[in-house]
Amino acid sequence: MNYLGGQSHIRLGVNIDHVATVRNARGGRHPDPVKAALIAVEAGADGITAHLREDRRHIRDDDMARLKAELGKPLNFEMGATDEMVEIALRTRPHAVCLVPEKRQELTTEGGLDVAGQHNRLAPVVARLRDAGIRVSMFIAADPRQIEASARLQAPVIEIHTGAWCDALAEGKESEAGAEWDRIRSGVRLARTAGLEVHAGHGLTYASAETISGLPEIMELNIGHFLIGEAILSGLPEAIRMMRAAMMRGRVAAPAGATS
Ligand code: PXP
Repeated sequence: MNYLGGQSHIRLGVNIDHVATVRNARGGRHPDPVKAALIAVEAGADGITAHLREDRRHIRDDDMARLKAELGKPLNFEMGATDEMVEIALRTRPHAVCLVPEKRQELTTEGGLDVAGQHNRLAPVVARLRDAGIRVSMFIAADPRQIEASARLQAPVIEIHTGAWCDALAEGKESEAGAEWDRIRSGVRLARTAGLEVHAGHGLTYASAETISGLPEIMELNIGHFLIGEAILSGLPEAIRMMRAAMMRGRVAAPAGATS
């Protein structure tokens, strides 16, 4: 990996949604996604991504407001193209908005946005956000129709949905993964030719992030679930050491024979 910046630098946006998923499991404040965002920035993230879903299943409105207030790096606000979200984005003024399709029942963002089919609905949304100085990106499959439609909408950025490629890799479906990879590569080139800035994300792991970082046209990767999962695994030994030490301190401090 190259940390030198400039042409060869590829930005990493860390998606902190699933820190909020764990917090919400108990309804309290721990672990705080904003604290996780600050740790991610300290560790080298170029920006933070968070998805405010209609059902608020992970990130909540006050998380977005705190991220905007406390982050020293760009905030990428993922959202569905609804009136409610546009109003929140215009109030929050993040550095960027990534428009994603959103279905209430889905576990995650399952497919790309149908920019070609929803041109008339999306055009005013893109225009309002762009006029407010927010960098707009469209989360789409690496499909020439969707890429060309995004360019027609004058969205400056697209984010290629890498989920199908990553799923095929994870399931060992080599020929499917190869076909998805070819689609991504040619989509990325077409998008650059159309003057779009290209990002990518969804389902990326260390291995797939390494592979896709080899495409010099890609400027940014947005990665969440795998990173947060890895952070749990690699952070667990330290958390257990800290807990063990706290328990030992309590035992040593307690007067002999104390029962309450
Ligand atoms: N980019 C977009 C537009 C997304 O919707 C998501 C998932 O919220 C990601 C990137 C990150 O995907 P993952 O959590 O699988 O790394």
